[in-house]
Amino acid sequence: MLESLARRRRARNLIDRGLAFGPVRGTVEGREAAARRAAEAARSAVESSSARRALLDLVGRRHAVPAPAGPAISGALAGRLSASEQERLLGGLDATTRAEFEAAGEGDRAAALLQLALHARDEAAIDAIGMRPHDPPEDVHAMDRGPMAAAGAPRVADMVAETFATAGVALGDGARVLDFGCSSGRVLRPLIAARPDVEWYGCDPNAAAVAWADRELDGTFFVSQDDPPLALDDAVLDAAFAISIWSHFSPPAAVRWLDEMHRVIRPGGHLLATTHGWHALNVFLGADPGLSEEHVLSAQRSMAEGGTWFFDPFGDGGDWGVESPDWGHTFLLPEWVLSTVTPAWSVELYVEGGLLGNQDVFVLRRN
Ligand SMILES: C[S@@+](CC[C@H](N)C(=O)[O-])C[C@H]1O[C@@H](n2cnc3c(N)ncnc32)[C@H](O)[C@@H]1O
Repeated sequence: MLESLARRRRARNLIDRGLAFGPVRGTVEGREAAARRAAEAARSAVESSSARRALLDLVGRRHAVPAPAGPAISGALAGRLSASEQERLLGGLDATTRAEFEAAGEGDRAAALLQLALHARDEAAIDAIGMRPHDPPEDVHAMDRGPMAAAGAPRVADMVAETFATAGVALGDGARVLDFGCSSGRVLRPLIAARPDVEWYGCDPNAAAVAWADRELDGTFFVSQDDPPLALDDAVLDAAFAISIWSHFSPPAAVRWLDEMHRVIRPGGHLLATTHGWHALNVFLGADPGLSEEHVLSAQRSMAEGGTWFFDPFGDGGDWGVESPDWGHTFLLPEWVLSTVTPAWSVELYVEGGLLGNQDVFVLRRN
């Protein structure tokens, strides 16, 4: 609260003069108490902002934004459109948007073409691409909606495919791959369309999202629980990926679910997981309204002491019905991940900020 007060010029002056709690009236005793409170408040404002500065200094050194993923999935799907179909779709753009499109990277251009085609419900393009529009209703959980989500999340699908490839993981014909925490399937939709030869699975505790994905997509979907086990046999999967899942498990739950992944993935199989690390903390710090002073101090202390920081921002209603006390916002230092997963897993790849310039991405090999 004091940080946001301090941003307002008039309040800043009051804090500087030790009068953050407004004009003091009444008895001498009351005035003294108010002055003490004001002095205390001013002191904590100074302490918090130096904590914020220290943390910014620390994360600022690590804030290089990684190159965006290549177009493994988006490019394959957009490549199913003929040049004249692509031109027809782009013909509807105004000059500024068209210029932005031309200036974008290859993957972003391919993904934009998919979003345009599906948002416009262009039947010829839809047939060519082989994907129906992704439009879960408002009461079904989805991480993004609207025109730029009409094709699901092709850039996240690109990241999954490209990151596996960079780690030397080949998802061959008939490979069994789980999207752990799939919600309504925004990442699976383009993957399924591009790679129908893979056996895709999706699970999530959100039953409505899973039911919707099951109706809409060609994969095997099932509802999972807040805690292990999954309804899967031992060593049945070749790989799993989890987008924005280990960024929410409390550290004990993170370990329990790593163990469960170790059970269901075959020896030599792989897990791709994203986590909040220094990079994401920097994004959080720069966000509006940003982290409270209490959170900054708690993050700094907790990450320095144990390599993790967990807080629950969801309150009583939970996160779309997920009410587990082990589900919140979690930050994991890469050092914590490394020391926790080895030797049951090997870390094949670590890309700081690799999920769209925010969360870190790990590829683990099951030993
Ligand atoms: C931030 S969303 C990400 C959804 C999806 N991976 C995506 O990128 O669109 C987190 C998802 O994790 C799910 N979730 C919550 N608790 C979980 C658990 N114990 N196991 C697996 N998924 C869980 C939520 O229901 C939600 O769908």
